[in-house]
Amino acid sequence: MMVSGGVALALPAAGCGAGQSRWNEAVAETWATLAADASLGDLVRYATLAANSHNTQPWRFSATEGAVTILPDLSRRTPVVDPDDHHLFVSLGCAAENLSIAAEARGRRATIGFDPAGDGNVAISLEPGPAAETPLFVAIPERQCTRSEYDGRAVPTGDLARLEEAARVDGVDVVMIGDPSRMAAVLDYVVAGNTRQVEDPAFVAELSEWLRFNAGQAAGTRDGLYSVASGNPTSPTWLGRLLFPWIFSAESENDRYSRQIRSSSGIAVFVAREEGKAGWVAVGRSYQRFALQATALGIRNAFVNQPIEVPEVRAEFAAWLGLGRRPDLVVRYGYAPSMPKSLRRPVADVMA
Ligand SMILES: Cc1cc2nc3c(=O)[nH]c(=O)nc-3n(C[C@H](O)[C@H](O)[C@H](O)COP(=O)(O)O)c2cc1C
Repeated sequence: MMVSGGVALALPAAGCGAGQSRWNEAVAETWATLAADASLGDLVRYATLAANSHNTQPWRFSATEGAVTILPDLSRRTPVVDPDDHHLFVSLGCAAENLSIAAEARGRRATIGFDPAGDGNVAISLEPGPAAETPLFVAIPERQCTRSEYDGRAVPTGDLARLEEAARVDGVDVVMIGDPSRMAAVLDYVVAGNTRQVEDPAFVAELSEWLRFNAGQAAGTRDGLYSVASGNPTSPTWLGRLLFPWIFSAESENDRYSRQIRSSSGIAVFVAREEGKAGWVAVGRSYQRFALQATALGIRNAFVNQPIEVPEVRAEFAAWLGLGRRPDLVVRYGYAPSMPKSLRRPVADVMA
């Protein structure tokens, strides 16, 4: 999936006024720090702050004192970019990890369970335990996917080791790529995947459905990909929808990805040991921990998943990696200022 296609026609009125203040209020509510006496609903809000594909937030939650269950919301699938629900289950893993870290910060020991033969629910059992506010917990409301050019600085070796350590989850390997010639090879796969996606009208139509072209539209749905969070200008919704398929071009997107990857310090590829939903949930947990540790260290990250989203490119990319397994996520990292945040739906809207 890519989100950097910009609508070139920026109308000044779209970024200010009532829509902007509703967006500001929604950002403050979404990303507020967890209360000291957090309720289960507050923990669910922290779970929803996780990364998730196209920001569809494909989840529902049911909570009792001893357990929270995350249920896949299949009405929020993205069948074109994610036909087998791979990204959807990775997203559930990201949310489960946030919930577990937040619960532990508030004195509840969390155990995450997933039964691959079951209904696709992720079950998190909660027992009383010592309260531990870790750096990963503190990073939850600060984390974001930062889809900008980075400043080219290298991440020090000690911090790379901390990222790898944080991402260690049973059943997941993380391949760290920092050598410029290997990063250039990954860029070639990104360009190959991106070109196929931009040329596929079904892909562009699905992406367009999840784009939010101005603050008012983003605040209205509190989901999807807000243009400004990807470094793009705003436009009225009707105009953005009309123009997006025409101005979204492989050439300009490839050029942007090239600058983004060349300015990054490195690339991390997440690979589950076993293919299937359980492996994908584990990958989500591992990525979320990686992203939180990166945030704690002042390191930004963003996905460049094109090599794993187009099946033919994925097969070539897997062969290049030489692991004999399906690569699950491709993430670049480095240093950059923060970007505007993306929104989440209120807790009441995601309770089962
Ligand atoms: C499985 C998965 C796949 C994703 N793929 C992409 C991607 O290809 N490109 C991208 O820019 N963001 C990608 N994202 C990031 C989401 O778009 C992002 O998490 C979401 O919009 C919420 O924004 P935030 O993480 O900044 O809060 C992906 C996230 C997940 C969990």
